[in-house]
Amino acid sequence: MADLFGGTLEDPFPAYNELREIGDGVHWCEQLQAYLVCRYDDVRLLGSDHRRFSSDVFYDSAPSWHDHTNPAHLQFVDTASRLFMFSDPPTHTRIRSSFRHVFTPSSIAQWEDTIRDVTRELIGRYPRGREFDIMPGFAADVPVAIIASILGVPDEARAKFREWSYGFASTFDPVVQGEMRNTAIAASLELFDYLRGLIDERSKSPKDDLISELIQTETISGDRLEDVELVAQLALLLVAGNETTTTLIGSGLTYLLEHPVVLEEVRADRDMLPVAIEEILRLDPPLHLTLRKALDDTDFGSTKVPAGAMMAPCLAAANRDPRRFDRADSFDIHRSSNKHLAFYNGIHFCVGAPLGRMEVRVVLGYILDNFPNLQLGSTPARRRTTNAVARGWATRPVVL
Ligand code: HEM
Repeated sequence: MADLFGGTLEDPFPAYNELREIGDGVHWCEQLQAYLVCRYDDVRLLGSDHRRFSSDVFYDSAPSWHDHTNPAHLQFVDTASRLFMFSDPPTHTRIRSSFRHVFTPSSIAQWEDTIRDVTRELIGRYPRGREFDIMPGFAADVPVAIIASILGVPDEARAKFREWSYGFASTFDPVVQGEMRNTAIAASLELFDYLRGLIDERSKSPKDDLISELIQTETISGDRLEDVELVAQLALLLVAGNETTTTLIGSGLTYLLEHPVVLEEVRADRDMLPVAIEEILRLDPPLHLTLRKALDDTDFGSTKVPAGAMMAPCLAAANRDPRRFDRADSFDIHRSSNKHLAFYNGIHFCVGAPLGRMEVRVVLGYILDNFPNLQLGSTPARRRTTNAVARGWATRPVVL
């Protein structure tokens, strides 16, 4: 039986390495109420075979978290259950098709300057030469500011937007229960209302922003997203893109600063920065695991997973599987092949991957260009230890 919460959250990798090698690398996990899947080929299979492994898991994982006699909870579930991340074809195909022109490498190029401007503005608030924690006021704020700007959220609403987006993100955290969940749901409902208002405004007078574009985009079924569907997907962009990118900024700084030889190489040859980011994504993916539901009985070696069981493909364990990667625990930016699963694979492959990659490349590139004496702070960084799924940084002290 896998124990993910038993004191391993600060550094879960030794546990992953062990669990991957015990038996068939598939273990029932009481805390997740799911089979944890640790080997690269099995994790990949769960992503690529959506006919056997469903993403329609919202109602399987979330019902016990919500009070079905509470109108606010019901209202929340009505919108949140429409996130296309938690759907299968044909619903998934139809909704995802609205994003087919949005996050392509050529269409995101227009936002590179915005990312640099946001980075300059936010990092400009910190003094040089003094230690500070780069997570709360910078790494956590850059992705929200960028997505707000891309969507077309007016400047004056940005602070509220950030607060709501944290609230919505925490509704996906199983440890957030009771009053904390009520507060998170209240923030999410405010976010939904706000997005509905923006959709109304942009429907009447479109602007040059992503909300206006999505309102007008036809799905491949020839229709347009209903308002409630659009509200859900806009909120999804926030929750899926923010914490993950924040974590990757924290990990990017940490890995580069802890490996001075690599840092020098990246400083000398800026083309190596995206390569280093891919290696950091492999070694330390922002999302450690995700969920699928087995639709048929499936054997993983001698482990029999019954139809209807929840499964948790562990991207972080797969990314260090020695069957797939040589010296899998080493930070090596010269690997000949790095087909990691940090953005997963198959039809749910991260729709925002080009944006996430570009954000982190621009942010780290800006910091390397402008702060030649960048150093780790004297206090060690701390991981967040409350969430087994999204393993972010609680603190990352640095000196600019
Ligand atoms: C480094 C940053 C990021 C990482 C590591 C990441 C990781 C992932 C992963 C692993 C999935 C697959 C989940 C599953 O199938 O269960 C996913 C899906 C998704 N991501 Fe990202 N993500 C990142 C950034 C972003 C950004 C910036 C956005 C948008 C602004 C975004 C939007 C989405 C959406 C909408 C999905 C659902 C796709 C689908 O179900 O078809 N992500 N992401």
